Amino acid sequence: MATKRRQWIQGVTIGVVAAPAVGLAATAAFGDLGANPIETVTHVTGEWGLRFLLLALAVTPARRAFRWSWLAPLRRTLGLAAFGYATLHFLTYLALDHYFDWNSIAEDVLERRYVTAGFAAFLCMAPLAATSTRRAMKRLGQRWVTLHRLVYAAGVLAVVHFLWLVKADEREPLVYGAVLALLLGYRVWRRRPAGARPAHSVEIGSSS
Ligand code: HEM
Repeated sequence: MATKRRQWIQGVTIGVVAAPAVGLAATAAFGDLGANPIETVTHVTGEWGLRFLLLALAVTPARRAFRWSWLAPLRRTLGLAAFGYATLHFLTYLALDHYFDWNSIAEDVLERRYVTAGFAAFLCMAPLAATSTRRAMKRLGQRWVTLHRLVYAAGVLAVVHFLWLVKADEREPLVYGAVLALLLGYRVWRRRPAGARPAHSVEIGSSS
């Protein structure tokens, strides 16, 4: 595909992933974050972190199912966006919720299961972001592919984190869980021997 078109698609994607952060900053600037601004920032950053993580996971299935090769570079942008929002989310928790009180943070991570799951999701995402460059990919070779399977664990832990934190209405986290189950199910199905799948779904030279 022409470089210009590729750059244009990347530019639009960067605009899309930046929009919630810009929206949040603008809302904060106008003092419109509601009665509990910390809660609002935690919710917005958490939700977008999870959404972009699921979108990053959807890139490969969509690329294969619709033969949209132009989607491939967007996986990295979406993955980094997910990590960016998760970092903002975590920083909000550390700085505004707990004032960097490390004892109370450690207690919270160990004692509240939804915080444990969120923290574990974040720990899975960090090495992926740190090794997202072309150089790291080349240097690590096959180990890069193995390491990047952590994205599935991050997805599961982030959904569990959401499911465990809601007090009454579980519909929203369950919707995210269903999307994640579909995406993971597709990967498992793709891994079956080629003969066990319909002929039109077998791509020449596909890896997994
Ligand atoms: C780094 C560790 C993390 C901590 C300490 C943490 C903490 C929290 C807290 C305190 C809440 C609000 C709970 C409440 O409303 O009672 C929350 C909500 C949420 N978090 Fe996390 N979180 C972490 C990581 C993550 C990650 C990695 C993701 C997704 C990629 C995520 C996604 C969410 C979502 C979707 C919500 C619910 C937002 C809503 O209510 O609309 N969190 N988190």
